[in-house]
Formats: sequence, C-alpha cells, structure tokens
Amino acid sequence: MRVLVTGTSGFVGTHLVRRLVTEGHEVTGVDWKEPRRPVQGWRDVRLDIRDDAAVQRAVTEARPELVWHLAAQASVSVSMREPRLDIETNCIASVMLARAAAEAGTQRFIFTSSGGAMFGDPPEIPARDETPVAPRSIYGASKVAAERYLEIVGLETGMEIAGLRPGNIYGPYQDPYGEAGVVAIFTQRMLRDEPCTIFGTGTDTRDYVYVEDVIEAQIRAATAPVAAFCLVGTGRETSTREVFDLLARETGYERAPVAAPPRPGDIPRIALDTSRARDLWQWQATVSLAEGMARTVAAFREELGV
Ligand SMILES: NC(=O)c1ccc[n+]([C@@H]2O[C@H](COP(=O)([O-])OP(=O)(O)OC[C@H]3O[C@@H](n4cnc5c(N)ncnc54)[C@H](O)[C@@H]3O)[C@@H](O)[C@H]2O)c1
Repeated sequence: MRVLVTGTSGFVGTHLVRRLVTEGHEVTGVDWKEPRRPVQGWRDVRLDIRDDAAVQRAVTEARPELVWHLAAQASVSVSMREPRLDIETNCIASVMLARAAAEAGTQRFIFTSSGGAMFGDPPEIPARDETPVAPRSIYGASKVAAERYLEIVGLETGMEIAGLRPGNIYGPYQDPYGEAGVVAIFTQRMLRDEPCTIFGTGTDTRDYVYVEDVIEAQIRAATAPVAAFCLVGTGRETSTREVFDLLARETGYERAPVAAPPRPGDIPRIALDTSRARDLWQWQATVSLAEGMARTVAAFREELGV
C-alpha cells in the first residue's frame, strides 16, 4: 500500500518505517530532522509539520492510503515551558495534516495519542478507555484535544480516524538526550557511569510498554475492521525507582540516584487496562519488562561500544 508516516526520524517512527518497508509498502516519511539510523527503501521528506503548504504538497504527492501521524512535541516538561510550541505541533498541525490526507484520498488516519498523559491522576488504576480524561499537562491536553479535532475531521470528510493511547514506550533507538524517555536516559547514563536523576520520590509509577509491541498495535490499528482509539500498555505499574534498580542490575551500575524536585505536569501514578485493544485488535503486550529492559540495554551497549 501507499503509506505516509510522520515523525520518521524519531524513536517509534524509526521502528515503524522499518516494519512497513519490510512488509513491502511504498513508504513516504516526514520529519524535520535527519533520520539517525538510515533504513533503505523509502522516500524521506524533510519538512516542518506546522508548514501547511509543505504538508499539503507532501501529502498530495504521496497520495497515501494510510497515514500514521507520530510527529509531535513529545515531552511533558517542554509542553509546560513552551505551550505554544506544543499546541501548534500537536493540535493545529495534526488537524491540517488530517485535512490534507482526507483530500488526497486517505482511507484511515492513525494518530498516536497518549494513555500515559490523558488521565492525570485517574480515579481507577488501571485506567480504561472509558475512564474520564483529566490531563494535567499541556502535552496531555493537546493529545486529548487532537483526538477530538481529528474525529471532527473524520466526520466532515469520511476518512476513518484511529489511534493508539500508549503508556511509556521504551526500547532501542529511543533518544537518551531528551527530557522524556527515562529508560533510554538511565540506560545511556549508566553505561557511561554518569549520574542519574530521579525527579520526585521515585515512587511515581508508569506503564512501560516495549516498542515492538507498540509497532504491532500500530499495524492492528490500521488494519482492524473498525477504526478506534485503544489504550496500549501492559496493565502493570512500575515505579521510577524500580526502573532504576532493574537497569542498574542489568548494566552493573553502582551509584545511587541523584534526587531532584518533581517536574511540573508529571503525574503520580498510571497503568492502562488494554481490554479494548484485546477485543478490537486482538492485541496484547508480549514482551515482559525484564526482557524488554535486557534487549534495550543490549542495543545501547552495541551502539555505544561498551
Ligand atoms: N515515547 C513514548 O513513551 C510515547 C508515549 C505515548 C505517546 N507517544 C507519542 O508517540 C509519538 C512518537 O513518539 P517518539 O517517542 O517516537 O517521539 P520522538 O520525539 O522520538 O519522535 C518525534 C519525531 O517528531 C519529529 N517532529 C517534532 N516536531 C516536528 C515538526 N514540527 N515537524 C516535523 N517533525 C517534527 C521529531 O523530529 C521526531 O523525530 C509521538 O506522537 C508521541 O507523543 C510517545
């Protein structure tokens, strides 16, 4: 099929392009940064997704049957410091891209939302797809708003809107230099024997899901008979301190973590009930945290040569 993916130089985009190229699809990828790990056999377009005219041109040229929209301002902390950047990238650009896609004849548009950020401090854990949303960060609010805006574009144009609401995704190729992605940040710093900072008490929890499981969910979101948004996680809460300890064991790191105050927008606890993904996509996470962490550390070791 002819497909278009945005965010192809990022963590999840790199894995998705690799999978789609392997399956023989005609892939156009869009990102404003150079891919860090070249994968052959796809068309790589450099543009800012906030540039409506450039987006329109790329989509018209690609005439994609499916669009996976992953490009985003993906950090909670940045969203609190730079709300305009977050809202322009995550809301406005998403709407304009979806409208261009519908005009070019796209059948289904698959958005990557955020199950980790949409519920704030939810009344039930694990949170379900039906749990009322109450984001506590600009990033979370943007993802919730974008889902709503996209559904309106779908109603207006007839294009199907689907999407993932993932927990914390981790695995090889995640950026270890950003402000999001604690597994990548800790792994790289531990392998280099550099200090690791835990913001807050370390007891805050997240639902960590391995990137290959997320890619499988991306494919199912695109191919399932009914277009829907589903939570994507493991249903398990893991604290930051547990992540630190697991990775320290795996890497042989012996330093204690550095304590720092909690960051604005961060939530205390989350885990995700993935019953809807199981029912609609026959999807569930298959990689355990221990296995996923081991694979991640092995990949970072290879990359860093340590
Ligand atoms: N990684 C996670 O834990 C996680 C969890 C839930 C949801 N998500 C969502 O999944 C998607 C992919 O996340 P990721 O971890 O791969 O993030 P990432 O930051 O690695 O990738 C995002 C990509 O978007 C690109 N991008 C950002 N602004 C752009 C712009 N204006 N124009 C063009 N390209 C732009 C970046 O260059 C980057 O390559 C995002 O939508 C993110 O919000 C991620």
